[in-house]
Amino acid sequence: MIRLFSPMNDFKLKYGPWAIIAGASEGLGAAFAESLAKRGVNLVLIARRLDKLEELKITLTDDYQIEIKLISIDLSDFQLARQFVSKLDEDIGLLIYNAAYSPISYFKDIEEEDLSKIVDVNIKTPLMLSKLVSKKMLDRGKGGIVLMSSLAGNQGSPKIATYAASKAFNAVFAEGIWHELKKQGIDVLASLYVVKQI
Ligand SMILES: NC(=O)c1ccc[n+]([C@@H]2O[C@H](COP(=O)([O-])OP(=O)(O)OC[C@H]3O[C@@H](n4cnc5c(N)ncnc54)[C@H](OP(=O)(O)O)[C@@H]3O)[C@@H](O)[C@H]2O)c1
Repeated sequence: MIRLFSPMNDFKLKYGPWAIIAGASEGLGAAFAESLAKRGVNLVLIARRLDKLEELKITLTDDYQIEIKLISIDLSDFQLARQFVSKLDEDIGLLIYNAAYSPISYFKDIEEEDLSKIVDVNIKTPLMLSKLVSKKMLDRGKGGIVLMSSLAGNQGSPKIATYAASKAFNAVFAEGIWHELKKQGIDVLASLYVVKQI
């Protein structure tokens, strides 16, 4: 028997059949969604704005033969995210955590509530979602996690001190679990910068 492999099929075998994109309603998150749809990966798209998610679902299902589930929640609430994600029956091969909160203001002026939200959206939820999805990936022996960092995470910068530090967390955390999880067939990547074509 001859087995035919293509890069697209290999991708879907390793990182499909379903991927979660957290922060998917526009911009980079929507671009990730299209890139995965092209590879035939079914999608769970998460963001607050359901109307934007619905528009994206229509565009992608018109263009590609995939299934899409939508979850409209605020990712600053990890317990809520956990409720929805842990109920999914879909076989999740990839998590892309793209959402971020990045208010621009001097530390002396920024409200405590905003500082706390940066930690929740940019650190707590990606950390805990990585834990949640990697449990099942460990059982299946394959999968992938992509965490969005930033070049801003390479140094302290005025007006984005907490955001930049949260992006440093994602890069350092991803590198650590990359070492641990690669032995179990799970790839982990922190994205530091963005090129036009994904
Ligand atoms: N833009 C850049 O130049 C750049 C450079 C380096 C790194 N990055 C990183 O790349 C990622 C994407 O950047 P971006 O500028 O496109 O981000 P963004 O506009 O802040 O958000 C992108 C997506 O995340 C969703 N989102 C944001 N907060 C959310 C929340 N609390 N709950 C649920 N969904 C939420 C948004 O949808 P809703 O509003 O519908 O919820 C949107 O779909 C970020 O992690 C950022 O740090 C960006």
